[in-house]
Amino acid sequence: MSTPADPEIKQQVQAFYDHVGWKRVGDCCYQNARYEDLRPVSQEYVHRCHLRVTRHITPSGKYLLDAGSGPIQYPEYLEYSKGYQYRVCADISHVALKEARERINDHGLFVVSDVANLPFKEDIFGGVVSLHTFHHLPRDEQVEAYAEIFRVMIPSNSAVIVNGWRESPLMRFFSPLIRIAVFILRIYRRATGRESYFEQDQHGSNSSGMTDEQQATFVHREDPSWLKQEIGSEMPLEIFVWRSVSTDFLRTLIHRKLGGRLVLRLLYWLEECAPRVLGLYGQYPLIVIRKA
Ligand SMILES: C[S@@+](CC[C@H](N)C(=O)[O-])C[C@H]1O[C@@H](n2cnc3c(N)ncnc32)[C@H](O)[C@@H]1O
Repeated sequence: MSTPADPEIKQQVQAFYDHVGWKRVGDCCYQNARYEDLRPVSQEYVHRCHLRVTRHITPSGKYLLDAGSGPIQYPEYLEYSKGYQYRVCADISHVALKEARERINDHGLFVVSDVANLPFKEDIFGGVVSLHTFHHLPRDEQVEAYAEIFRVMIPSNSAVIVNGWRESPLMRFFSPLIRIAVFILRIYRRATGRESYFEQDQHGSNSSGMTDEQQATFVHREDPSWLKQEIGSEMPLEIFVWRSVSTDFLRTLIHRKLGGRLVLRLLYWLEECAPRVLGLYGQYPLIVIRKA
């Protein structure tokens, strides 16, 4: 997408999530779920990756901040605030917060706010999580968002931020294979007349009737050296793996009939053996910030 002037970015992202991202499609999910692989074959792997977050946050306290909570769309997300009295959902999308309220009712406090300028006092959150949100901010504001998270955390506690890298060497290695698999899957699906909901047709729109451009919004990703230099110089951080492979990898290369479940168990095991290496070279890092 083209990059709009900075002040327009937030309005554009907010409008996107209010009108597109958090619109329900079918019975099961939101439009945003097109960025996840929801097939049964990947379910166990995706589920276990979601739960990695719980290892790094303080398990209980009064307030847990979910910065860019969205509607708390996956059941695993509920685990993060289980030991907390309140989950404070902060998001720029009204629709997200309305949906989140329906999900957690009195357990939640819902604040329309910008993660780069949080309307909270310092040192009040026992735990902080932020998943797939910082990438919607321009680079300078990502620095501010990290500083804000650090400011509102209670000392001795930790925050978990999950985001994607701009480029993952592991996914770059697999990209020719993914391209070949996309080609084969298209032929197979046309021949058999089966087309997945999220798959594009030849007119560049899918069954939701929207073009690719309409189905996406501003995203800016960085690489590990930027993170270490710009953020690591300001606060202590560690990088682990959240998930080493992209959704494209899962959808194209993982299939039940090809032993997909077993492959993903092996992959999960590898990630557990080398969480720091795959955190750096895989697609999605889990960034832990500790406040001394
Ligand atoms: C990709 S969704 C992720 C939602 C949720 N964390 C998840 O993993 O399902 C990104 C969310 O961040 C919110 N968001 C984007 N920019 C934001 C900002 N500057 N401040 C607060 N929320 C923001 C969007 O409204 C959206 O709900």
